Amino acid sequence: MNNVQYVNIGHSGLRASAVGLGLMRVAKKSDADAAQLVATAIDHGINFFDNADVYSQGQAEEKFGAALKIAAVPRDQLVIQTKVGIADKRYDFSKDHIVAAVNGSLERMGLDYVDSLLLHRPDPLMEPDEIAEAFLQLQNQGKVRQFGVSNFNPMQVALVQQAVPMHLIANQLQLSIMHTGMIDFGMHTNMADPRSIDHDGGILEYSRLHDMTIQAWSPYQYGFFEGVFIDNPKFPKLNDKLHELAAKYGSNVNALAAAWILRIPANMQVIAGTMNPERLAEVADIDRIKLTRQEWYDIYFAAGNDLP
Ligand SMILES: NC(=O)c1ccc[n+]([C@@H]2O[C@H](COP(=O)([O-])OP(=O)(O)OC[C@H]3O[C@@H](n4cnc5c(N)ncnc54)[C@H](OP(=O)(O)O)[C@@H]3O)[C@@H](O)[C@H]2O)c1
Repeated sequence: MNNVQYVNIGHSGLRASAVGLGLMRVAKKSDADAAQLVATAIDHGINFFDNADVYSQGQAEEKFGAALKIAAVPRDQLVIQTKVGIADKRYDFSKDHIVAAVNGSLERMGLDYVDSLLLHRPDPLMEPDEIAEAFLQLQNQGKVRQFGVSNFNPMQVALVQQAVPMHLIANQLQLSIMHTGMIDFGMHTNMADPRSIDHDGGILEYSRLHDMTIQAWSPYQYGFFEGVFIDNPKFPKLNDKLHELAAKYGSNVNALAAAWILRIPANMQVIAGTMNPERLAEVADIDRIKLTRQEWYDIYFAAGNDLP
């Protein structure tokens, strides 16, 4: 049963499900439950897994490693990404830190290589040439296949990209129906209201121009981890609209919220963080949803937005 679509991440040839499973919350699961989650993902065509060395101080990577052993999915059917660069009480993009962090991640997950490595949050002390040295070493050693960034603005991407020889394939950024700054800004340019303030540097358009996939993190949250907006009584209009369209497409509201993100033509991925296999299966039930332009805007309006 495969019901997600696939993207070519950053046009790199890395073919991954448009819905990925984020593992930030996995450490609290038992090994068996984590393995069941991985198996559910695979059953529904989700082959992309996003982790980070910093999640639960390495325990998320350890748990995923244990789950992979139990689930016993052939390695070449998995697209595994991790993120490094957040150290204890600082960000750290030094060569030594990046290389050591990747070695630690591989060991915890029990892997020889990751398909994709992201720099987690921009380090103002970054030296692009040092990053390039780290990336080249990791690529030459066969430990990392592709590289990208997370929470970077366009100038930060450009700063790293001019030094590294490999094409940066992805930028992981916060984006959900209730967190749309990078979209709002584009429609309020030259206006006097707060949505005209550019918090992201035009990252949506920059990513499209430079063939970088946007990986949307926290696709079901509003604010900075304030809570889930799905079926939340704080957002009645939005949930009415999501339920209406879910019924129209014979799908469900979790898939609808992911489909809204994937409708943005930027070679998008959604990184869902559910640890509930049933909910993950719902999120994956996405390919029957074909949002019209008007439906996409109607969801945007139902979330409390308007147009100039
Ligand atoms: N690059 C970065 O800086 C960054 C930052 C944060 C996250 N991330 C990545 O993005 C991934 C996803 O982030 P996230 O976990 O915040 O995303 P999320 O999918 O928006 O949130 C997942 C959480 O919301 C709950 N949830 C989701 N849908 C729900 C619903 N319909 N009803 C009730 N509860 C619902 C889940 O509970 P259940 O488990 O019970 O379903 C889970 O606790 C992370 O795992 C990580 O890989 C990256």
